[in-house]
Amino acid sequence: MGYAARITGIGSAFPEKHLSNEELTRMLAHHDVETSEKWILDRTGIRERRVANVENEAETNSSLGARAARKALKMAGRKADDIDQIIYATCSPDTLLPSTACWLQKKIGASNAWAMDINAACSGFIYGLVTAQQFILSGQARTILVVGGEVLSQITNWSDRSSCIIFGDGAGAVIVERVPAGSRQRILSSHLTSNGSLSMLFYVPAGGSNLEVTPERYAKNLHKMRMNGREIFKVAVRTLTECALRTLEKRRLSIERLDWFVPHQANLRIIEAVANRLAFPMDRVLVNLERYGNTSAATIPSALDEAVRDGRIREGQTILLDAFGAGLTAGAVLLRW
Ligand code: UT7
Repeated sequence: MGYAARITGIGSAFPEKHLSNEELTRMLAHHDVETSEKWILDRTGIRERRVANVENEAETNSSLGARAARKALKMAGRKADDIDQIIYATCSPDTLLPSTACWLQKKIGASNAWAMDINAACSGFIYGLVTAQQFILSGQARTILVVGGEVLSQITNWSDRSSCIIFGDGAGAVIVERVPAGSRQRILSSHLTSNGSLSMLFYVPAGGSNLEVTPERYAKNLHKMRMNGREIFKVAVRTLTECALRTLEKRRLSIERLDWFVPHQANLRIIEAVANRLAFPMDRVLVNLERYGNTSAATIPSALDEAVRDGRIREGQTILLDAFGAGLTAGAVLLRW
């Protein structure tokens, strides 16, 4: 008998502090960086984001992930001991070593699991979900926790107005379980892609093994994210559209049959451009970036969680998840909820 993979529980968690565009504009003015509430809202669709206080143990990346994971476990009706694998998608890990997945494992007490991180930046949750599905299809796992969590505020260059305005902190988590092949509620298809030749469009120059953080490099913010937003914007619209179509094509499903489209939340103009290219109505696109900004690997699971909990998403609905990010990476997953 073959297997399929199904999401049985979902949860999300955010830090307490809200940082509105108005507060951010004031904060940047102190550093002689000019922006405005109107520019940020008009060009991105973001009104506010959450910012973690990492001095508070409850708001580290793995702690946000643990909070999201506990909610997902509760919805799935599972205990931490039931988890046999943890996949943590992040590009802002608690520590370079060990993985954030291991820190989270300790926090939730998932003593029967093995744990690892995936870094595919904003596509991380999609990469993690597809990886989890493969372990389930091969029969090697029954219950997998997939988390997308970020504390991007720690690697944001707050003196670069063209990037710092979009990022935020948060986490989302799902429990993925083995179900019989052919079950109605399951992951239906996926498509992953990356283009390493575009790595320089979005990267953190120092802090890896290539370039140590020295006081001089620290002063130049080389340990923070550098992003060519304008170029990424163009690639993002094209790639998100392609990934969506390839994933639908694999199931021979026409886009009209979709109930919900859940794109990565980086910029409302990117989301609208993709919906427009797909000829898909915006009232069936999940958007929550006005309240959280771009939380990278956390955007898709947290937007999905919100819609599941407020009743917009119902059992049996067909949903397409679609992300892109640094790498440049991209990927989509089609599933029946
Ligand atoms: O998560 C995945 C990876 N990242 C992304 O998906 C980001 C994708 N890109 C974007 O979302 C957009 O490119 C940004 C929001 C980052 C920037 O918006 P944009 O419309 O592409 O602006 P731009 O960089 O082309 O800049 C347009 C103008 C420039 O002025 P000039 O040269 O036309 O005089 C910038 O200097 O806007 C200026 N500008 C700003 N003005 C006020 C850039 N940032 C700001 C700012 N406030 N914060």
